[in-house]
Amino acid sequence: MYFIGIDIGTSSTKTSLFDERCELIRSYTKSYKTDYPHPGWSEQNPDVWYEAACEGISAVIKGIETSLVKGIGASGQMHGLVILDSEDRVIRPAILWNDGRTEDETKFLNEAVGQEKLSELTGNIAYAGFTAPKLLWLKKHEPENFGKIKKMMLPKDYINYRLTGVHSSDVSDASGTLLLDVKNRRWSQEMLDICGIADGQLPSLFESYECIGEVLPSEAKKLGLPEGVKVAAGAGDNAAAAIGTKTIGDGACNISLGTSGTVFIASDSFRADRNNGLHSFAHADGRYHLMACILSAASCNQWLMDKILLAEDYEKEQGMILPQELGNNRVFFLPYLMGERSPINDVNARGTFTGLSLETERKDLVLAVLEGVAFAIRDNVEIAGKLGIEIKESKVCGGGARSRLWLTILANVLNMRLRIPENEQGPSIGSAILAMVCCGVYADAAQACAQMEEAADFIEPVPSIAARYDEQYKKYSLLYPAMKPVFRAISQ
Ligand code: XUL
Repeated sequence: MYFIGIDIGTSSTKTSLFDERCELIRSYTKSYKTDYPHPGWSEQNPDVWYEAACEGISAVIKGIETSLVKGIGASGQMHGLVILDSEDRVIRPAILWNDGRTEDETKFLNEAVGQEKLSELTGNIAYAGFTAPKLLWLKKHEPENFGKIKKMMLPKDYINYRLTGVHSSDVSDASGTLLLDVKNRRWSQEMLDICGIADGQLPSLFESYECIGEVLPSEAKKLGLPEGVKVAAGAGDNAAAAIGTKTIGDGACNISLGTSGTVFIASDSFRADRNNGLHSFAHADGRYHLMACILSAASCNQWLMDKILLAEDYEKEQGMILPQELGNNRVFFLPYLMGERSPINDVNARGTFTGLSLETERKDLVLAVLEGVAFAIRDNVEIAGKLGIEIKESKVCGGGARSRLWLTILANVLNMRLRIPENEQGPSIGSAILAMVCCGVYADAAQACAQMEEAADFIEPVPSIAARYDEQYKKYSLLYPAMKPVFRAISQ
């Protein structure tokens, strides 16, 4: 039997074909662009995602016995607002997770409605990237578009809608809307009232591994699929990645170095961070998790290489950095290229290099970027520590996890062992596993994960390097408080 996992990422859609033992048969990646219509805003056209998913499905099933394809699962970038009119047509480009236009709306939610109330209703406070502030922004700035909304949904839900004709969402992805009562895994009527949204404008809610329907015969024909292929509700990309990296069970951790950087901590029961520094979301395995998200991780490295250094060979650039240079850099980088979510919740924050001198070389900047992202991730691991969550080991995934150097830096900055899966693409395996559960191959995600081999490769921190990075982290921590008023001033 074959199962297809589709991950609607920010830089590309990755479609992968697996057999029922989760062995990867074939993978296909289709890249696309993000539009930045204004500094700090980001948008994509949902139809481009669907075309990429279709291209991916057709590519991965080429030459196989297609009657053996049984299920599809999709995961995707979270929080993006996709709105459809009464004819189910996309009304405007989707506003993405790293879009910072909603400063006023986020402030309204956190201050006028109040963080305590939000936390009580949803388990979370408002962050600019979440979906509810986007709805409020739309209501104020594009009332005509707001008035046309028949259904709103998240990026991967649009793929599922185009495949099946069903308007659905799953609890893990819906957690990031700030419209979900996460603890009870249902939409919060009070939050809908606050945002001026009616229940009927939301898609039906499912657990991630539940079946929402079958691929429509017309789509099946177009894609070369047999009739009757089941579609799982799917998951937000981080929850899917966690399934794909076996991050289930209380306290298990996965760190993703994708366009965003996330720290994902699985939890058997619902718990909200009393300071709301960490998001409290539903996991795709039927349980819960805590999560922190930095908005720019691998995208910082990509930005430096592609736009600043005009370097095509990332490995060559990183290859110039010598082992003894780790923890000794005089240049520091704040990775806030799209503002920042966790933990500072500041849409005006921006990237900086600090400590430049006439001695500074190209490789110092390359190293500073890798280190700056690792320090920003540490900010969030520290918050988990203050909640009494001690993470001794983490899985890693995402494009950045292909760099051994970056993982060595991260392991030492966090003073934590990092376990490296053979395939760094967690979300597409995770979403295929959800399809397998939906088709009854496994009783649940835990059973599917149990038969996958534990990643054998890992990186251990080295005490002397970790100690140097401890000192460097103290210096890095001085930067944002000092720069905060400057960021505010230059945003005006
Ligand atoms: C998580 C988040 C990002 C996106 C990236 O809250 O916003 O990780 O899901 O795809």
